[in-house]
Amino acid sequence: MQNPVPVLPTDFQWPEGFLWGASTSAHQTEGGNVGSDWWNLEHLNTGGLLKEPSHDACDSYHRWHEDMDLLAELGFSDYRFSVEWARIEPAPGAFSQAAIAHYRRMIDGALARGLRPMVTLHHFTSPQWFAERGGWSAPDAADLFERYVRAAAPLYTDGVEHLCTINEPNILAVMITVRHRMKSGTALPSAGLPLPDHGTTEGLLLAHRQAVSAVKALAPEVQTGWSVACQAYEALVGAEQTANAHRRPREDVFLEAAREDDWLGVQSYTRNLIGPDGPLPVPDGAERTLAGWEYFPEAVGRAVRHAATIAPGVPLIVTENGIATGDDSRRTSYTAAALEALAEAVHDGADVRGYFHWSLLDNYEWGSYDPTFGLVAVDRTTFRRTPKPSAHWLGALNPARTAG
Ligand code: BGC
Repeated sequence: MQNPVPVLPTDFQWPEGFLWGASTSAHQTEGGNVGSDWWNLEHLNTGGLLKEPSHDACDSYHRWHEDMDLLAELGFSDYRFSVEWARIEPAPGAFSQAAIAHYRRMIDGALARGLRPMVTLHHFTSPQWFAERGGWSAPDAADLFERYVRAAAPLYTDGVEHLCTINEPNILAVMITVRHRMKSGTALPSAGLPLPDHGTTEGLLLAHRQAVSAVKALAPEVQTGWSVACQAYEALVGAEQTANAHRRPREDVFLEAAREDDWLGVQSYTRNLIGPDGPLPVPDGAERTLAGWEYFPEAVGRAVRHAATIAPGVPLIVTENGIATGDDSRRTSYTAAALEALAEAVHDGADVRGYFHWSLLDNYEWGSYDPTFGLVAVDRTTFRRTPKPSAHWLGALNPARTAG
C-alpha cells in the first residue's frame, strides 16, 4: 500500500518570492546535439557503457515553446534550462550568433509566458573539441570556459535573474574518473561514488570563479551560483569520520566554493549510507526507483541542512529534486514528502529561496530513456507531450498561486 500524500502544515508559508519551477537540460531534451562530447561518446558504442544514444531526445530545440506553454499552464512560475556550449561555440573561438539568438528567443519566450528563466551555462556536456584538448584538466580550460561565458552575455544581460555556471561539477569530475577506469579496466566501487578526478575538480573550481567574475563585470545585477549534487550522506554509528572524509572531495569542496556566491543550488534525490569501511549498498528490502536509488524523499531536507552548514549565509535553491518512476502516484508521494522535509528545514532556519522539480519532461537520462523523471510524458516518436497527474498537482501548489 502506498503512503498517503502528506500535506504541509496549514500555517506554513514558503518565503516571499519563492521560485516554483521545473528543470531540464539541453542535451537531455533538445536532440541532435552533434557537436558535444556526449554525442561522441554515445556513438563510440564501446564497452556497453550506454544503452542507447540521445538521438532526437524530446526535440525541444524546436518544441521549446510547447514545453514553456505547458509549464506556465500548469501553474509554475520558473523554468531552469541550459544552453549548449557546443552549439554556441561549435569550433574553438567561432561563435554561432544564430545559436545565441535561438537561446535568446527561449529566454524572451519564457518571460512572455510569465516564467522566470534560470539559465544554466554548462550541464554535463562540452564541445567535443574541448574534450579532445583535455577537458577541464587542460591548463587553459577555465580561460576557454570564460571566453564562452563572455560570448554568451546576450543571454544574461537582460531578463535573467539567476544564472548557474556549471551543473553538478562534482558529478562531472566523477564521470571523468569513471571513463578513466573503464578505459584502464579498473573496477569501480560497488557502492557510492568513486573519487572525482582531481585535475577536473581543480579546473571546474577555477572555471566557476572566472565565470562568476566575468558575469559580474558584464551584468552585475545577475545572481550567480552553481548547483551541486548532494548525497545526504548518513553515517552509521561510529562511522562519522569515515563519512566526513568520504564526503569532502565528493561534495564539500564544491559547496565551499559557493561561499562567495549569490546562491547555491542543492540537487538531491536519495541518501547514501556510510559504514565504518565506507559507502554501503541500498539496504535490503528498501524500495528502489528506476534509477536504482533508494526511495528516500527526506534526503532533500538533509541536503539543504548540510549545505547551509558548509556555505553559511548563502541563499539556497533546490535546483533539482525528483524521482525516476513509471508509477506517477509514487512521484506525487515522493515529492510531497520531499516538500515536507524541505519545509521543515525552512521552518528550522534554512534560507531556501526556491524549488525546481527534475524534470519537466521524460528525457534522455545519460545513456537510456528508461528512467522516467518527468512530470510530462513525451512520446518517443511523435514527441507529443502529455502532462501526468503529478504535473497538475505540483503546479497547483505554487505558493504564488495559493497565497492569500
Ligand atoms: C543531473 C540531471 C540528471 C538527474 C537524474 C542530475 O544528476 O543534473 O542531468 O538527469 O540528476 O539523474
